[in-house]
Amino acid sequence: MAFRNDFLWGGATAANQVEGGWKEGGKGLANVDLMPHGSTRYETGLGHADIHSPKKGVNYPSHEAVDMYHHYKEDIAMFGEMGMKTYRFSIAWTRIFPDGDEAEPNEEDLRYYDDLIDTCLEYHIEPLVTICHFDTPMGLVEKYGGWRSRKMIDAFLKLCRVLFTRYKGKVKYWLTFNEINMILHFPFVAAGLQFEKGENEVQTEITAVHHELVASALATKLAHEIDPLNKIGCMVAAGQYYPETCNPADNLKALADNREVYMFIDVQARGHYPAYGLKWIEAHHAVIPFETGDEEILAAYPVDFISLSYYSSRVSTADPQKGKQTESNIFASAVNPYLETSAWGWQIDPLGFRITLNELYDRYEKPLFVVENGLGAKDVVEKDGSIHDPYRIAYLRAHIQAMKEAVEKDGVDMMGYTTWGCIDLVSNGTGEMEKRYGFIYVDKDNSGKGTLKRIRKDSFYWYKKVISSNGEDLV
Ligand code: BG6
Repeated sequence: MAFRNDFLWGGATAANQVEGGWKEGGKGLANVDLMPHGSTRYETGLGHADIHSPKKGVNYPSHEAVDMYHHYKEDIAMFGEMGMKTYRFSIAWTRIFPDGDEAEPNEEDLRYYDDLIDTCLEYHIEPLVTICHFDTPMGLVEKYGGWRSRKMIDAFLKLCRVLFTRYKGKVKYWLTFNEINMILHFPFVAAGLQFEKGENEVQTEITAVHHELVASALATKLAHEIDPLNKIGCMVAAGQYYPETCNPADNLKALADNREVYMFIDVQARGHYPAYGLKWIEAHHAVIPFETGDEEILAAYPVDFISLSYYSSRVSTADPQKGKQTESNIFASAVNPYLETSAWGWQIDPLGFRITLNELYDRYEKPLFVVENGLGAKDVVEKDGSIHDPYRIAYLRAHIQAMKEAVEKDGVDMMGYTTWGCIDLVSNGTGEMEKRYGFIYVDKDNSGKGTLKRIRKDSFYWYKKVISSNGEDLV
């Protein structure tokens, strides 16, 4: 058998993409509640929109999402039916501290997470909690400018202390920040950054990253102090960059692009900024806002495991004209003529998945946990109510097979695998509902209309077999 007996098969979501209930339970306003559906979403995510509260008549998909806030029992029961061993979800910071750093946490919504976690445990589903998946309380954006301020570290640690204490013995696996490298690509979403005209944006992003890195190290320390059984992971938006040709210039560009992905988890895993990273920062006219003791903190508290999202590989070219021909999860890439793409232009590359896993394992020699992988696609509900999604099964089958080869043939140490959006959810990049990843369909369209009814797709039954055979039966 390729995978360990305790391999954690499951699915993943994020609070703002599934929960809804944006004003319920005492929840406060978060950056992600201001991300509209439609043409202004991308600019808003880049931090170029001066937005502080929702505008009338605009569709903000996170406000209702798929209403898991009210459907979680039904949804987790279906995850249990699939045999999921783990469920990755995130805690909405603004449910616990609505404004970000009140003196006391919000008991009402803590009870929501108590019950969500207990429901998982009832179905023998191991909770895997992302503490911060793209949400920054607007209270802290207004007060401090988001993660550009060092004050965010204390606010985050306060949140961590509440969670580690309350869920001691129930939650063992934690991720500090989702896709930390996304700060360079979607800074308002990833770190609550809104920019002034003419600001050195890279400087602000590096400042925010440094604060998150220190916060992540201190959270790791705290987690181990509160419960030595806690396992903490970093999380990176991964995907190998290939050189477009064997021209050494393309190869050098691929090296640089790959390093831009590793730069921050190098710190989380190895405990210091890599030499090339320091040069990159200098070349962008930025400085790391080190304070006394930061270097020691980063060195003393590395993560226990490396987690990653993988959707596609990418292609680097030294020719600036060719650099942005297609997209892969907000990362620009040149076109790879050997690969097919999803309907959203993301290049499909299972072998690239095996390569990516190998690169990460070679580099860090720590267990890997794939916490996002999947295909965003349109689904059709047939007249009889069934949903046939062979394209999704084909994508996942090929990727699981590639992961299996990484374990069996290459010796990569894998802890688990959670597919992205095990239940349909709002797309982070586009705000669409109809870009679906789920095994469970949710009846809702891009304009926000629908009954929210849940329907099992063909892939639901397929994944159930994959899990029960521990990845042996992929047919
Ligand atoms: C990752 C994020 O970047 O990719 C998720 O962690 C996101 O939040 C996922 O949903 C897929 O991207 P998209 O744009 O298809 O939702």
